[in-house]
Amino acid sequence: MKKIGVITSGGDAPGMNAALRAVVRNGIYKGIGIYAFQHGFQGLINKKFSPMQRGSVADIIQRGGTILQTARCEEFKTKEGRTKAAENLKELGISGLVIIGGDGSFRGGELIQKEHGIEVVGVPATIDNDIGGTDFCIGFDTAVNTVIDAVNKIRDTATSHERIFVVEIMGRERGFLALYAGLAAGAESILIPERPTSLKDICDKLEHGFKRGKKHSIIMVAEGVGGDFYTNRDLRKTPAFALSEAISDKLGHETRVIVLGHLQRGGAPSARDRILASRMGASAVDLLCEGKSGLMIGMVHEEMKATPLGEALAQEPQINEEILQLSHILSL
Ligand code: F6P
Repeated sequence: MKKIGVITSGGDAPGMNAALRAVVRNGIYKGIGIYAFQHGFQGLINKKFSPMQRGSVADIIQRGGTILQTARCEEFKTKEGRTKAAENLKELGISGLVIIGGDGSFRGGELIQKEHGIEVVGVPATIDNDIGGTDFCIGFDTAVNTVIDAVNKIRDTATSHERIFVVEIMGRERGFLALYAGLAAGAESILIPERPTSLKDICDKLEHGFKRGKKHSIIMVAEGVGGDFYTNRDLRKTPAFALSEAISDKLGHETRVIVLGHLQRGGAPSARDRILASRMGASAVDLLCEGKSGLMIGMVHEEMKATPLGEALAQEPQINEEILQLSHILSL
């Protein structure tokens, strides 16, 4: 393996730059040419690339986002698009590709390997933390910290006005970010798609809290939740607004909503994410240099572990029951 391409793909995540830096620096250390392509898979198709030097990734470990930019690429979902991308890589003599991104990006990587023999290793980077084969994805820890910083500020005004705040959290169809951030922020209730909760249960818990003197309540709602308060899935209302109205109608208590949105995708990566990203990015290059590919690098019980892409993608990461139960007990 003499030349490796690298892209960042899908939704950006804090720590992607740290992973890119490790791919470049470890690749150069091993005498490999590293070619970074802009805008994810689109850059492969449009042949938008830069040969990387050590200096190319200077002063980026602390930066959120991705200096390569990223995108979701419809063209790459076509055979023609993947063929064009593969032809460009082969023309440049690039036989390996590191994909820093989420599950959708890895599915594209699996296809270009199967159809064109490009040797792919995936580096999981998504704040949703919804990828099998790894305990944590790059960006998740930073996003949890971003949420708790925001909730700390919300608590000040919630206490001043004795209000209920409904905080909507990203995570697409999964509740990992809401669950971990909820436990860390000490939320009174955490609503996740994996555990539908009734409005009655939510309101009973709120009343229990107020009876014992709570001055405010924070309810974390993952953006993908359903429930009896959100059956009509009125697209003008997000789950948080639907729940806020339902609680206010039922309890007559002042409620407010905050949708944290893309705030959760930004910010300087935490130390944990920088270390995770550096280990994963460097390990991806090691695997390719050892002639191993069609893999995703993950961290399992603090150790780097390679899993076949198909196997990782087929896994349905489970909610940690202990964390879920603990978050309930500690919020009573
Ligand atoms: O997958 C990461 C994520 O932030 C999800 O949590 C969220 O639902 C989605 O991306 C938002 O996508 P976009 O950035 O395209 O609006």
